[in-house]
Amino acid sequence: MTELPQGAKKIQLKAGKRYSLCSCGKSAVLPFCNGAHKELNEQQGSNYKSVTLLPSSDTEVAVYSTTWEG
Ligand code: FES
Repeated sequence: MTELPQGAKKIQLKAGKRYSLCSCGKSAVLPFCNGAHKELNEQQGSNYKSVTLLPSSDTEVAVYSTTWEG
């Protein structure tokens, strides 16, 4: 079994539901996006966007981004 990076988060996903994950690290509801990337992009001219997951079956995944640290 592969060791997960420190800070990885396991999340349960339901089939047919849309999930938006944070890639910028500024969300108050990590690992999910809450729209905070929009203000960050305006402040620093970046282009962060959420990452969409659309699972076809109920499953558990581990997610991680280096932007979630600190
Ligand atoms: S809040 Fe981080 S990508 Fe949306």
